[in-house]
Amino acid sequence: MIIAANFKTNHTRKSTAKYLEKLVSYVKENSVSEDIYIFPPFTAFDDFELCENITLGAQNAYPAEKGSFTGEIGLEQLEEFDIKTVLIGHSERRHILGENQGFIAEKFNFFKDRGFKIVYCVGEPLEIRREGEDALQEYIKLQFSGIDTKYEKLIVAYEPVWAIGTGLSAEPVQIEETISFISNLTKAPILYGGSVKPSNIKEIVSIAGCGGALIGTASWDVDSFIEMITIVEQCQ
Ligand code: PGA
Repeated sequence: MIIAANFKTNHTRKSTAKYLEKLVSYVKENSVSEDIYIFPPFTAFDDFELCENITLGAQNAYPAEKGSFTGEIGLEQLEEFDIKTVLIGHSERRHILGENQGFIAEKFNFFKDRGFKIVYCVGEPLEIRREGEDALQEYIKLQFSGIDTKYEKLIVAYEPVWAIGTGLSAEPVQIEETISFISNLTKAPILYGGSVKPSNIKEIVSIAGCGGALIGTASWDVDSFIEMITIVEQCQ
C-alpha cells in the first residue's frame, strides 16, 4: 500500500525534522513495508536520513529547470535535495491557485520527461457529484486531458473536492465506483484522499482497487500518521 502525507502549508523545517526522526525510527523498528511518501513545504527540504520506503516529494513545482518565475521553484531547487517525486493537479492548486488543465498537463509532461514519480490528483466538486454519474465521469475524464495515463511512474489520487479538509470522507461505495471508473483509464495505483483519518483508514484501504491513501489534516500529527500506518500494516 502507498500511504502519503500532504503537509500543505503546515510544519516548519524544524518540526519536519522532528516528525521524520520519529517516523523513520518507527518504520525501522517495526519493519514497516508500506510505501510512505511525505510532501512537506519547500522550506523544510533538507538532507534527511530516511529509510528505503520513505520518500520525500514536492507538493508542487514549476515546469522549468530555473528562471524568472517569482514565488515558484523548479528542477534545480528540487535536485539540490534529490527530490524526484512531485504532486501535480491537487484540487487546492486547481481551485485556489487557478491552475488550468493545460498548465497542469505541461507540468506533468515536464516532470515525466525528467523521470519523476508523479502523484496526480483528480476529483470532482460537489455540484458535479450532485449532477450524477455521467457528469462525474466526464469531469474526471477531462482531468486526464494531456496526461500520459500509461506513464510507469504514475500514481493517481482520487480526491473528491467536497471531502478534502471537511472531515467528511466519501462513502466507500462512492469511492469504489469512482476508483473502478478511473481504473478503466489507467493501470496506475489509485489512492483515495479526502478526510482520511485513523477512524476510517481501514475501511478505505479495504475498498476494491484502492492502492492506499493521500492524507492531509490527519497526517500533520506524526502520532496520528503512525497510527494510520499501523492500521494499514494490520490490514495486509
Ligand atoms: P485532507 O486532505 O486529508 O485534509 O482531507 C487531503 C488532501 O488534500 O490531499
